[in-house]
Amino acid sequence: MARRSALLNVMAGAAQKAARGLIRDFGEVENLQVSRKGPADFVSAADRAAEKTIHAELAKARPRYGFLMEESGEKAGADSSNRWIVDPLDGTSNFLHGFAHFSISIGLERDGDPFAGVIYSPIHDEMFWAEKGSGAYLNGNRIRVSARHNMADSLFATGIPFKGKEGHDLFLGHLKAVMAVSAGVRRCGSAALDIAYVAAGRFDGFWEAGLNPWDMAAGIVLVREAGGLVSDLDGGADMMASGDILAANSHLHRPLAEVLGRASGET
Ligand code: IPD
Ligand code: CA
Ligand code: CA
Repeated sequence: MARRSALLNVMAGAAQKAARGLIRDFGEVENLQVSRKGPADFVSAADRAAEKTIHAELAKARPRYGFLMEESGEKAGADSSNRWIVDPLDGTSNFLHGFAHFSISIGLERDGDPFAGVIYSPIHDEMFWAEKGSGAYLNGNRIRVSARHNMADSLFATGIPFKGKEGHDLFLGHLKAVMAVSAGVRRCGSAALDIAYVAAGRFDGFWEAGLNPWDMAAGIVLVREAGGLVSDLDGGADMMASGDILAANSHLHRPLAEVLGRASGET
């Protein structure tokens, strides 16, 4: 059984505490589907409550660290080297519709680089965790990216842009190109969990454009520590700033980037 560092215990503990509230609230969502207003306000309250819990737990354990949180934004800390990057509920649309696939993502950035991350799936009680230099784990077991070499055998995940997001045509070009050469493409609705699944070898690769740092900070550490590669869609290292990410095992990272690159050129 792998032993988590004190830092990772703080992060995992915060995720688990927030998850208890989310699980309780997820049980209510189904009842609210039939109401005319639907569960939207209820879900945003659940989202904010989860963030509040995570913030309180992390601030109690590391009072000097800064924060970047999806709901409440940036909070500078006395320690400018360390910053928590938090998505309290990734997969909000799934949650809102009673579709049991969502996660909590907590990353720690140190001196500008992703350093540690936990991604927790409350429904499956799966805690993915990693710290730079110490490997990646799922609950108590070491995880590694898949060993597949061939695009034709590989299963990829992505995110589909929706109303209000840019790049619909570009996405369709990318999808068409990957569909034609792979064993399949999934859209599960929680980018953080998709990236964790790449680390665990369940997906051979993942790409999405237009994400935010809290969707990917924890996942970047997980995939790297599981032996995979992470970049933006062009193969560059600018994913946290651009919001575009491509994560895959080391054999498929370049072929996937090339397929996407060719499709971008044609769109
Ligand atoms: C969303 C999910 C989704 C992705 C969207 C994100 P949210 O995050 O990660 O999979 O496609 O781009 O915004 O809003 O559920 O935290
Ligand atoms: Ca998110
Ligand atoms: Ca969110």
